[in-house]
Amino acid sequence: MDEKKIIAVVGASGAQGGGVCRTVLKDVGGGFTVRAITRNAGSDKAKELEKLGAEVVEADIDDVESLKRAFQGAHGAFCVTFFWEHMSPEKELAGAQHMADAAKDAGVRHVIWSTLEDTRKWVPLDDNRMPTLLGKYKVPHFDAKGEADRLFSGSGVPTSCLLTSFYWENFIYFGMGPRRGEDGNLYLTLPIGDRKLPGIASEDIGKCAYAIFRNGGEFTGRTVGIAGGHLTGRRMAASLSKALGQEIRYNDVSPEAYRKLGFPGAEDLGNMFQFNRDFESVCCGARSLEFSRALNPSLQTFDEWLAVNGRRIPIEKALRRAAGE
Ligand SMILES: NC(=O)c1ccc[n+]([C@@H]2O[C@H](COP(=O)([O-])OP(=O)(O)OC[C@H]3O[C@@H](n4cnc5c(N)ncnc54)[C@H](OP(=O)(O)O)[C@@H]3O)[C@@H](O)[C@H]2O)c1
Repeated sequence: MDEKKIIAVVGASGAQGGGVCRTVLKDVGGGFTVRAITRNAGSDKAKELEKLGAEVVEADIDDVESLKRAFQGAHGAFCVTFFWEHMSPEKELAGAQHMADAAKDAGVRHVIWSTLEDTRKWVPLDDNRMPTLLGKYKVPHFDAKGEADRLFSGSGVPTSCLLTSFYWENFIYFGMGPRRGEDGNLYLTLPIGDRKLPGIASEDIGKCAYAIFRNGGEFTGRTVGIAGGHLTGRRMAASLSKALGQEIRYNDVSPEAYRKLGFPGAEDLGNMFQFNRDFESVCCGARSLEFSRALNPSLQTFDEWLAVNGRRIPIEKALRRAAGE
């Protein structure tokens, strides 16, 4: 008889949820199994998860009834929102509310809510060191997640709020990798001065989350943060240089210049990096490396991540406005 506890995973075909699914399914004797939630059970990624042993079900976080069905009978739920699909904090809040409501309706025992800081606690809207965006946010994709923490705690479902970190995969997929400047040199452009940025291999988020599910009660009602490294821009550039075999210089631009780069989300990310720069101790302090490693002993450092993934990092075209600052 199969008495494994089901963990329902939102975003199962993505970076965070995918890591949760693979970690749980790999631990065959661990007493847990996966219900992978996707909008398309026929996709290649969904089929891959099925092959690994997941039950695959369709649901959409915009549709609370679909989530109620998907969470039914689950012991745990890993909940994440998808800001960059729509760039609307209101939509993120609505999705979080749906997941909290569905978890309550289904009697889920433990939710992990993938969150980030509501930066307005440190930088109120009338603080002009960074612009207010979309009328009431400083860092929209952080603030809405932080604001949504209370939706989960208010639902009465035992919840762990998991503060994640900057994925190093952003250097591969998000256009944040090294770019050739107009002088022909390669630059890693980040507006963080000489401060440290907490970062992580996205797969490690799932490994840490699984440890939090396994330890259950110890982590419910708590906010915990994870990172695989706290690294300056100069240090990341040095590691990238070594891994890519080409000199990559750190291009320390101002947050103002970064916000003006013109790509979708540049203002939001400019404010995010400024928050990391100006509140380094808050951001790094909330994401202890020792704690993260205790949860996940195979936690990757940036250099270890680069040894495996470095060759996938593209050299992007010049960011003219940054280089011309
Ligand atoms: N990039 C970073 O450095 C970073 C760091 C910390 C936090 N974050 C946050 O991480 C979140 C995204 O997580 P991720 O990176 O794991 O996502 P992801 O890799 O982009 O994957 C998300 C998956 O979720 C599914 N999905 C999208 N919209 C959905 C919806 N309405 N209902 C149900 N499923 C949906 C999609 O799968 P299907 O098509 O199969 O449904 C997609 O494959 C964002 O909110 C971002 O702010 C990012």
